[in-house]
Amino acid sequence: MNFELTAQQKQVVDTVKKLTEDYLLPGVLERDENSEYPIEAYRELGRTGLIGLPYAEEYGGSGAGYMEYVLAIEEISKVDASMGISYSVCTSLYGGCINNFGSEMQKKKYLPLVFSGKSLGSFGLTEPNAGSDASGVITKAKRENDYYILNGSKCFTTNGPLADYCIVFASTNPEAKTKGLSAFIVEMNTPGIRIGRIENKMGIRSAKVSEVFFENVKIPKENLIGEEGKGFKIAMNALDGGRMGVAAQGIGIAEGAFEIARKYLMEREQFGKPLYKNQYLGFKMAELKIKIEQAKLLLYKAAYEKDNGRSYTVPAAMAKYACTNTAMEVTTEAVQMLGGNGYMKGYNVERMMRDAKITQIYEGTNEIQQLVVSGSIFK
Ligand code: CAA
Repeated sequence: MNFELTAQQKQVVDTVKKLTEDYLLPGVLERDENSEYPIEAYRELGRTGLIGLPYAEEYGGSGAGYMEYVLAIEEISKVDASMGISYSVCTSLYGGCINNFGSEMQKKKYLPLVFSGKSLGSFGLTEPNAGSDASGVITKAKRENDYYILNGSKCFTTNGPLADYCIVFASTNPEAKTKGLSAFIVEMNTPGIRIGRIENKMGIRSAKVSEVFFENVKIPKENLIGEEGKGFKIAMNALDGGRMGVAAQGIGIAEGAFEIARKYLMEREQFGKPLYKNQYLGFKMAELKIKIEQAKLLLYKAAYEKDNGRSYTVPAAMAKYACTNTAMEVTTEAVQMLGGNGYMKGYNVERMMRDAKITQIYEGTNEIQQLVVSGSIFK
């Protein structure tokens, strides 16, 4: 067992740190206030090879692994968790579906543009009545000659209004439930696609999340990923990777808030001494530090399992659960430790607390992660 980062992993961390300082830190509070997406930062992620980090160079990737990828999201999310999720959706969900199940034509045509940062990808699974129960998808795709005709809608689609491409899950055989779902690569400029409400969110406010409507959208049959009926497994597989992305986002948020609190406790004096000299606060920080390190080990272990070709469904679920609950706890405590200042926007921890909340919800609520883990215990 080796806990040392490799030279390549350290280099990824340094590259992302520099990128976040140059492109994400400036204006992070204003973007949160105004719900503005930092498109130049996204383009730079592409230019530096970070979007395609864990994928093969022949498809525009960087040929690294998931370990490098989770390190990148962790660094990004220390500063701006909105970009953490936008990036994760492009890499894990959009990239994962096509890379793991797509044809050679699909990989060559649809991966490089997103990995280069010129285009954005999204992932359309969730519908008003298909949230935790992803088998409830009612969007339909009906085969007509060389096309599938898509009708229905998606909600809570991250990158929805920005995306050039979306992986859409639709039923090609409604009676078959999960075995009737199919996955399609949809070009978002196809006639019949309409972006609905752009959500006004509690947190990750500069990420763009929307409804998407499909009315008689013609999708070439070549854009079916894998075979008809394989969509549910494609979605679940991509989400196993995505859950590591969300776990990394959570750990990044936790570490970002922890560092703000650490500096504050050393600088601020009350009752004639710096705050950290109150044992309650020093011990509280020790407890949070231990929780961050525990959760991080689960995350790195999950990435290690994936990079070594082993099953990572359960490790990813455990990592997502632990890291995102840690994010919520650390950010809540950080606001408390900063007191009145913590509650104000300028110190960032209140933003981080709002951002942390969604990590316990999307890409499978933490209750769904418990379902996945308990299913693996009692089988
Ligand atoms: N990988 C591959 N296949 C899997 C799998 C996995 N991780 N998990 C399940 N499957 C397969 C099963 O083996 C089974 O196959 P067979 O029928 O051949 O045996 C099939 O899928 C059905 O499995 P289940 O019976 O376990 O399915 P279920 O209906 O009980 O659901 C669930 C399981 C875990 C609850 C699943 O529905 C789930 O993960 N729900 C949460 C959905 C989710 O994460 N949504 C997030 C959407 S993305 C998002 O958040 C938006 C964004 O943009 C960020």
